[in-house]
Amino acid sequence: MARHPYQNAEHCWVDKELESRNLGVRGTIPQDLEGVFARNSANPQHSPKGRYHWFDGDGMIHSLHFESGRAHYRNRYIRTKAFELEKDAGEALWTGIMEPVDLRNPHGPVKDTANTDLTHHRGRLIATWWLSGAPYEIEIPSLKTLGPCDFSLPRTMAAHPKVDPNTNELMFFDYSLFKKPYYGYGVINAKGELSHSISIDLPRAHIPHDIAITPNYTIILDLPLGWDRKALAAGKRRIGFDKSIPARFGIIPRRGQSADIQWFEANSCYIYHTISAYEDGRKVSLVACRIDDPVPENPSKKVVARLDNIELVPELYRWTFDLETGAVTEEKIDDRQTEFPRSNDNYLTRKSRYSYNPLIAPKEDLSFTGFLKYDLKTGLSESYDYPENWYSGEVVFAPRPKQQSEDDGWVITVLSNADEGQSRALILDAQNLDQEPVATIDLPLQIPLGFHAEWAPLGS
Ligand SMILES: [Fe+2]
Repeated sequence: MARHPYQNAEHCWVDKELESRNLGVRGTIPQDLEGVFARNSANPQHSPKGRYHWFDGDGMIHSLHFESGRAHYRNRYIRTKAFELEKDAGEALWTGIMEPVDLRNPHGPVKDTANTDLTHHRGRLIATWWLSGAPYEIEIPSLKTLGPCDFSLPRTMAAHPKVDPNTNELMFFDYSLFKKPYYGYGVINAKGELSHSISIDLPRAHIPHDIAITPNYTIILDLPLGWDRKALAAGKRRIGFDKSIPARFGIIPRRGQSADIQWFEANSCYIYHTISAYEDGRKVSLVACRIDDPVPENPSKKVVARLDNIELVPELYRWTFDLETGAVTEEKIDDRQTEFPRSNDNYLTRKSRYSYNPLIAPKEDLSFTGFLKYDLKTGLSESYDYPENWYSGEVVFAPRPKQQSEDDGWVITVLSNADEGQSRALILDAQNLDQEPVATIDLPLQIPLGFHAEWAPLGS
């Protein structure tokens, strides 16, 4: 039987957990690069039940721990409740999202895997799930699952919570495609306690994937990707995109109530990932990767990255919302296709200048051939291209301790080459991308490109 594209090549699964210390290095790992690069990924523990989707697999974290100029590799499954149940059962207990939703499954309709995102907060990683589930606490550098986070959440937490680098508060959202309230929003304070939580009554159940934060506001995305209405009327559940519904951006004071949200409408679109947001007087701006129509009526004849019926053709955009007049301006910054963008997280709530956007490969499975370093101040960009047949997932920016400027630090990226069955990490000087990597580190096995990565500094 043909294997699913997201089970093959650079997306291949890993069937063991291992640890490998003092990896081979070409170049020199900077002495002051102390911390953990960690990447979440979907890696089924058992053979899938029914058709597989890239988003279905159990969460597995791959990590590189840098200390004193050395690098150590480790991977571990996230021990979610579902993982343990399936481990005990010796088989998959859930079908994936390509199969009809099984509302009669005694364990719940969909498996909560925490496989999507990793957020560094209060000295540990929080693993979260795209479809909104229990956030799991992961110890670093051991990658031991400490259990669900003790946040006393009223519901769940979706992937992409955001940490304010100045206050250490964590802003999060949750959503449901099955029951009201369709959306929730909250704040975890710097002590790790739930300090604010509200439900937001959206007109329809949609699939939001990210938020953005400024010092005073959180930007909520209400974009028309959700259940296909025609299919739903016929009793079927299928994901669709309704281009007749505008994009809605809700700007809520950090600890605001639902009635405090100022909604702005813009041209219909979908956004997987935001890069940054900032305030300028009474204006709030958002920079993100925008997809004009993720489920076009006439699918593209070109080779584009796909997630089954969803096309990934994103372009870099900026929206500016005027809180006084209610006006919105929308501006395309670049038409090259990039996704999984990252920036210096220390600048997350400021008008940041740089972002590091992986360049989408001309293939049907999502992978990246390099990345662009955008300078949003000058409008210029610089590209870093990987060697042929090497692809990466998300890159991270690791700031130099006591950094002098926003791009004073390193870009860390892990590449895979399925032909050679290898993976390697590159550490690049973010201010000198035209130079050879500072260090190239060979991993002991080929790891999948995965989903989101995080830099977690350790030491002083
Ligand atoms: Fe994401």
